[in-house]
Amino acid sequence: MKIDPWSSTTYQDYTRLRDEFGIEEFTEKHWKDLLKHHKLLRRGVVFGHRDFQIIHDAVKKKKPWAILTGLMPSGKMHLGHKMVIDEVIYYQSIGADIFVAVADIEAFATRGYSLKETEEFALNEYIPNYVALGLKPEKCHIYFQSKNQDVKDLAYILGKKVNWSQMLATYGFNGSNNMAHIFSPLIQTGDILHVQLEKYGGIKPTLVPVGVDQDPHIRLSRDIAQSHRLYNVTLTKDNKIGVFVKVDENIEKLLDKAEKTLNSLNFTKLKRITKYKAIYIKDAEEKDIQIINNTLSKIEPKFGGYGFLQPSATFHRFITGLTGEKMSSSKPESAIFLTDSPKQSTKKIMNAKTGGAVSLEAQKKEGGKPDECVVYELFLYHLIENDNELHEIYTSCKNGEKMCGHCKKYAAQLMEKLLIDLQEKRNTSKSKIKQYLL
Ligand code: TRP
Ligand code: SF4
Repeated sequence: MKIDPWSSTTYQDYTRLRDEFGIEEFTEKHWKDLLKHHKLLRRGVVFGHRDFQIIHDAVKKKKPWAILTGLMPSGKMHLGHKMVIDEVIYYQSIGADIFVAVADIEAFATRGYSLKETEEFALNEYIPNYVALGLKPEKCHIYFQSKNQDVKDLAYILGKKVNWSQMLATYGFNGSNNMAHIFSPLIQTGDILHVQLEKYGGIKPTLVPVGVDQDPHIRLSRDIAQSHRLYNVTLTKDNKIGVFVKVDENIEKLLDKAEKTLNSLNFTKLKRITKYKAIYIKDAEEKDIQIINNTLSKIEPKFGGYGFLQPSATFHRFITGLTGEKMSSSKPESAIFLTDSPKQSTKKIMNAKTGGAVSLEAQKKEGGKPDECVVYELFLYHLIENDNELHEIYTSCKNGEKMCGHCKKYAAQLMEKLLIDLQEKRNTSKSKIKQYLL
């Protein structure tokens, strides 16, 4: 199986995807002891991750870390797009440095928009909404791919270590794909990794919160980051921790530096074998790999390397459209747009597909199915902060006390409040955009 990031499929069987692609499960231990919790994290909407642990560590130890995400500006922003920014705003509140790429090159290459059109979408629709939703200008940088020379340079340079077979295996390209499209995953890798350049604050853990459709790009970026490292820190076959120099220049110097660094981290039982380009650390364990790797990475720029840490990622489920299919801008009745009037959104909610039974009577008897109800999803993803209240809706639906008509009305009311509040905030947000642009 392949994941195609440009298709319009929604991937539903999240457990299978997780297993098939080696994504790890995102569980309570990942969010529980962070400074604050976020509903999308604690309610299982974020269901998987890669290397979240190093982000968790950075938060706990108050070390610098970054969020990088990207938006494909195509038309109007709906609740599905809001979700990512809700996550970003949460991470900003617990200390992340924020970077947001406006994926104008990708939109040009894969969706046929001109750069001018995407610029308009970004400046008039997406960014004003981000501001209205609560993204703060401090430690926040929004940039256009097409205007960021560092991103474009990295895309080209990093491409040196990716061959065509890997691109084929990852994306299933064929002879009819144009070169701009084929190149766009490298641009996205440039997005993800450039935040670790000196100019943007240097090497640091970076989290990319995305939908699972973006996992091919995450894997590519992680591979590329790793293949450009000068050091490799791993558990060897005989269960020792080894530091290996991967390049053929400066081997002695790199080993000297590594030895010193390891000593400074209080590892003293080192066995250096220069001809293997290796140092074995007898007093280290597997759990030490991360700190060793992170510390060694910082040496690499002095030797002409990048030292990029592999980016971490979280994966979220997608909210279902109101009609029961995908929420999509191309089907307005499936989506609630952030610029919908309360009247429009109410109408969509009243027509939404619920998990209600065939008749009132049947529903009283058998109960409803909140797990199959898009109105319930609205509560869960967007409308209700309080877990007890959400739980109360869930159980009273299940045991037949709650009827869909009332329930929809309540959802419509909450949505109306949300939309009016956003509308008011948007009135003043356009004048603030400059503070965010890189
Ligand atoms: N490809 C993403 C999308 O289709 C947009 C994107 C561009 C992105 N650069 C990124 C996402 C970097 C995450 C990280 O929506
Ligand atoms: Fe959905 Fe509410 Fe109906 Fe239950 S009562 S199925 S949650 S709309």
